[in-house]
Amino acid sequence: MDDPAADLLAPDVVRRLAEALRAAGFGYDAVAGLLGPVAHAALSRNETTPGLRATTGGSPLATLTRLWPLQATVAVADAERALPGLVDDLCRAGLLERSVGEVRARVDLRPYADDSRDWWVVSDLTPGLDGAGVRVSADHVLGISSASSSLAQLTVREPVLRALDLGTGCGVQALHLAEHAREIVATDVNQRALAMTRLNAALNDVQVDVRPGSLYEPVAGELFDLVVTNPPFVVSPATGERLVYRDSGLPGDEMVRRVVTQAPRHLAPGGIAQVLANWVHRRGEPWQERIEGWLAGTGVDAWVVQREVADPAAYVELWLKDAGLHGAADYLRRYDTWLSWFEEQGIEGIGFGWLHLRRPATDREPVRHLEEWPYEVEQPLGAEVADRFRRGDRLRDLGTDEGLLAARLVVRADVREETAGRPGQADPETIVLRQQRGMRRAHQADTVLAGLVGACDGELTLGQILDALATLLDHDAAMLREGYLDEVRGLVADGFLEVALPG
Ligand SMILES: C[S@@+](CC[C@H](N)C(=O)[O-])C[C@H]1O[C@@H](n2cnc3c(N)ncnc32)[C@H](O)[C@@H]1O
Repeated sequence: MDDPAADLLAPDVVRRLAEALRAAGFGYDAVAGLLGPVAHAALSRNETTPGLRATTGGSPLATLTRLWPLQATVAVADAERALPGLVDDLCRAGLLERSVGEVRARVDLRPYADDSRDWWVVSDLTPGLDGAGVRVSADHVLGISSASSSLAQLTVREPVLRALDLGTGCGVQALHLAEHAREIVATDVNQRALAMTRLNAALNDVQVDVRPGSLYEPVAGELFDLVVTNPPFVVSPATGERLVYRDSGLPGDEMVRRVVTQAPRHLAPGGIAQVLANWVHRRGEPWQERIEGWLAGTGVDAWVVQREVADPAAYVELWLKDAGLHGAADYLRRYDTWLSWFEEQGIEGIGFGWLHLRRPATDREPVRHLEEWPYEVEQPLGAEVADRFRRGDRLRDLGTDEGLLAARLVVRADVREETAGRPGQADPETIVLRQQRGMRRAHQADTVLAGLVGACDGELTLGQILDALATLLDHDAAMLREGYLDEVRGLVADGFLEVALPG
């Protein structure tokens, strides 16, 4: 890769490479099948020995699996059989390297799949196989990481006209976007990443408009229906050397603040931005306040979910290890410097989570919900993200309490009621409403709420249900309305109850 701005491979070579990969059956399931569950699991732990033992057959599929995911050297004759007429081209382009009688990979190329299709993805080689060091160069282009998959699973997959993948890396989000967006723009500051994204687009026969530049600079003045980004969000003093895939060069969570505060300017009406991020917990400042401060004045709806919080020491260890610095001569000094900076800044923890922003289709007050939800959720979750915004719209359309009382609600099909109490006891001690899908939320209910939710089959209005419960349980009707309307609103927002459409 001498000139990263140039295409890595000529179109004809890309076409022949795709043909060779297809002919070899180099697909996700085929490679997993060839490796078998044990070797496949070992490889996901960065161990290649079981995989090498499982790929001795000499078939083109075995050769390609050894060459790329397993990073083994293969005989030139085997490589030529798997990649007919391509070995020299790939060596010239810096994708492979040849020594006497043998070939090895200089970049990774592997199949990747979701439920709908398979792709091939070129990225830099996975570091750290079989205990080797994990130090990489500053412009390392990360392959598909667990963060990449998280974002892909969270992405709203509804058909859109224009989508932006900000900080595309090897282009994995852009490949997904091509399934449901008419036009895709992918940006990055790393020219090597852009070269790989262009190659991945060509290899998978998708159109991606690849543009160099920082943050939203390459798309100044443009609007998108969907923006997805997994930006370099590591929270650090940003004084040392930088791994561009994870370090923004900006201190603290400034990169994420910029991504979030500038996103609204690039959203078309109804457009959604989805950001995977870290944010700072500063002494005396609740994390929600910090993020609300970023959103103030932007006019966007927001659903922000904090998935976990790391303490400063655990955070520093995680990222020093990621950079391969655990055990290095200056490990202790780096650890101490980073921790002192956290202390100076009053940083007591680092939150990790998702920010979903939506520009309302019409001019109105934004709806915001910031919450902690560290529990397991359904994957993929993209449909739930879109639904949450739609439910907010429905609640807003209903307007006042009168509107909600006049609505017919239906309990979502996946909601179950769990009751618990002592054996033989007439009434349960606890009642929990639990979703089987989406966020898999649980909501503790009393007998009134459980009765109310149980009666929500779309026949009676909420007002009629509350009146009937008041009579049945001998409660004051006005007090029941007063006491439960906000909770019902929350149940609609969280998806336990749906507003039945008239007719
Ligand atoms: C964590 S990687 C994400 C890669 C890919 N989108 C994914 O989901 O796996 C972050 C990417 O942002 C890029 N990046 C770093 N600083 C940037 C900036 N200021 N503007 C745009 N992209 C940047 C990095 O080069 C890297 O490719």
